[in-house]
Amino acid sequence: MNNLNFINLSKASLCESEEILSGLKDKKQKKINSKFFYDKEGSRLFDKITKLDDYYPTRKELEILESKKEFFKNLLPEKASIIEFGSGSNIKIKKLLKAMKSPKHYIPIDISHEFLLFNAENIAKNFPYMSVKAVCADYKQINLLKEIINQNENIVGFFPGSTIGNYNPEEAKMLLINFSKIIGAENFLIIGVDLRKEKDVMEKAYNDSEGITAEFNKNILNGVNRICGSIFDSKLFSHKAFFNDKKSRIEMHLVSKKKQIVKILNTEIYFREGETIHTENSYKYTISSFKNLVELSNFEIVDVLKDNKSFFGVFIMRVKSI
Ligand code: AVI
Repeated sequence: MNNLNFINLSKASLCESEEILSGLKDKKQKKINSKFFYDKEGSRLFDKITKLDDYYPTRKELEILESKKEFFKNLLPEKASIIEFGSGSNIKIKKLLKAMKSPKHYIPIDISHEFLLFNAENIAKNFPYMSVKAVCADYKQINLLKEIINQNENIVGFFPGSTIGNYNPEEAKMLLINFSKIIGAENFLIIGVDLRKEKDVMEKAYNDSEGITAEFNKNILNGVNRICGSIFDSKLFSHKAFFNDKKSRIEMHLVSKKKQIVKILNTEIYFREGETIHTENSYKYTISSFKNLVELSNFEIVDVLKDNKSFFGVFIMRVKSI
């Protein structure tokens, strides 16, 4: 395909195993960063989650993107470059690209080489008159990314899926500030945010009746074994997900079913029966709490699009002129 380019900026991290070990040695609360969910099997399971009846965010966000095509067509500039931070599956970007007037470049950025290439090829085939520059990188590597993005063009950033919710508010603020530097003054960012709602609805989405989220959560231990040469037995842990009201977030944990010791990088990690490893936070915002977060970054909000139940919000933001 001659409208597809592939750029690899990913840095093999030598310290991943050290990072995992340090999280597991934490005396207050053992933890593993949620970025370790997304190996090949984890990405496959996550894709399955997005199609579950109980997991409403993907469905609701798609509903919004589909129903607001005219809005995007009128608002977004012609011949723009679209940067997608963490591209994942491409159903959402297709809806946006179809709504936009002659998008010129599509730049998906994702750390997962295989998924990135597969999806970029599909987009290149479906939009033959648009150039696709797939960048294999961590979208937080802003200095590297700034070099490959032409800021003289109109840029539209796209960060769907409520991935912003997987960062704590301080990290989320820094992420928005970094995005603003990549996107450049007066350009748009379209960002999906899962909204705070009835506890039962949120908890069901992370305790789905088919057990896929439980599988996804336990699979993180297989990734840890591969990275650290450890021998966690995922069958000896159970899935737990609940809404932490005070912090306004869903927490996912793995609960040790019994007292056990796991050796990792020559260090023995002791687990009490019932002790947990904290694997993920998924922050749920109200419109006003997200607006407060945006106020601390370089953006201003242009509009907020919601579904009919106000389960999910798509925030249209613009980088403030400096
Ligand atoms: C990727 N992220 C926005 C998902 C979420 O809802 O926080 C990850 C996920 N974890 C369990 N289910 C889905």
